[in-house]
Amino acid sequence: MLETAQLKIGDKTYDLPVIEGSEGEKAIDISKLRDQTGYVTLDIGYKNTGATQSAITFLDGELGILKYRGYPIEQLAAKSSFIEVAYLLIYGELPTEEQLKAFNFDLSHHTLVHEDMKKFFDGFPSKSHPMGQLSSLVCSLSAFYPESLKQNQTPEELNLSIIKVLAKMPTIVSWIYKKSLGHPYIYPQNKYDYVTNFLNMTFGQRTEVVDIDPVIVSAMNTLLILHADHEQNCSTSTVRIVGSSASNIYASVSAGISALWGPLHGGANQEVIEMLQKIQEDGGDTDKWIAKAKDKNDPFRLMGFGHRVYKNFDPRAKIIKKACDDILEKLGIDDEVLEIAKKLEEVALKDPYFIERKLYPNVDFYSGIIYRALGFPTDMFTVLFALGRLPGWIAQWKEMKEHKEPIGRPRQIYTGATNRDYTDIKNR
Ligand code: CMC
Repeated sequence: MLETAQLKIGDKTYDLPVIEGSEGEKAIDISKLRDQTGYVTLDIGYKNTGATQSAITFLDGELGILKYRGYPIEQLAAKSSFIEVAYLLIYGELPTEEQLKAFNFDLSHHTLVHEDMKKFFDGFPSKSHPMGQLSSLVCSLSAFYPESLKQNQTPEELNLSIIKVLAKMPTIVSWIYKKSLGHPYIYPQNKYDYVTNFLNMTFGQRTEVVDIDPVIVSAMNTLLILHADHEQNCSTSTVRIVGSSASNIYASVSAGISALWGPLHGGANQEVIEMLQKIQEDGGDTDKWIAKAKDKNDPFRLMGFGHRVYKNFDPRAKIIKKACDDILEKLGIDDEVLEIAKKLEEVALKDPYFIERKLYPNVDFYSGIIYRALGFPTDMFTVLFALGRLPGWIAQWKEMKEHKEPIGRPRQIYTGATNRDYTDIKNR
């Protein structure tokens, strides 16, 4: 029998149900708290609040465990493809050969974006940040597919919206990049798999890259898999909460992209490389920068370090660090910035400030070095995170709908002025 939590307020005691997840995580169910007691809970930043019950991703921050639908991230990163993982996240099971073939077929037949969308690409200043463009362009898909606005979509209609956003995202991302260079857009080609098609549209000239290096395709698959979902993080919670008002999938994903953009979340991968370059230009004195990160009067933080949930190590960072060494070696690249990153990590991990606060390198610490080696400019890094996170956002949005979750609407504790009488402007 499950335990019950007791809450004592004044001389009254309330029994609160305890919920246990499949991995043994426990939660006190306060969903009826306000009705029963008149109180709400206060948890700024949701540090102790479970917003949903989800069967998609499990992570244990103390032990550094991450699993998608029960499969360890290490196995998926080593053996799977991004599209297989996307299928797993969205539909709950690894696909059979036939299911994967059908999924790939559907995806490759929805890769084109409406020709009118080119006007949007043209309208953005060429130096505008790719994340702002991506968020707007994904939201604008709802204008081209108004059937997605329909409430009570059939499962088939809903699935078509899912396929469309997943299929069109690589085209949009690569066209944002092409636009930044002032180069012609390269159209998707059905003969390529998802990742190769993306790389072709990004790095191809005229129509196609003659020879796409399998090392790059494999590195890209790994990176996208590692970013594919991370349970109720800031952007995913945003997608679920926007979707909970019955907003369409394009608007919900677009909101997630905006949330991801911030430097404390996905935007950190751009910030990490910029920070490493700055340290390099400054002479490479890592001790000086560690001291700055520790100084409470200095706003500088060690970007790519620390995590709300991981308090031991980030399993994604472990895989990425190894992949980073392998890829640079395979591509014959000697990047001084990687040496600075390793030195920073070494110094930080021995420093009591970082040890006491359990601050370790996160997924963003080494990913930028790989993106750089693959030829992406810094301001595209967070867009690549978004491309990877898309299946997770979709899976979480779909789950939220299937669970028929109510609209997300937190409470607050009001601390402003109480009653005041309006005064005429001349008397203020
Ligand atoms: N450098 C220096 N000090 C830090 C850092 C850092 N990167 N991160 C946390 N701290 C300190 C912080 O100052 C605080 O110290 P004190 O207790 O003395 O006030 C303590 O560690 C706890 O930090 P917090 O900000 O309360 O922790 P949080 O859970 O609210 O924030 C975080 C988590 C990821 C926003 C934060 O660690 C951070 O800003 N890291 C740098 C940005 C970054 O790399 N973000 C990517 C996260 S992983 C990718 C993703 O999923 O988004």
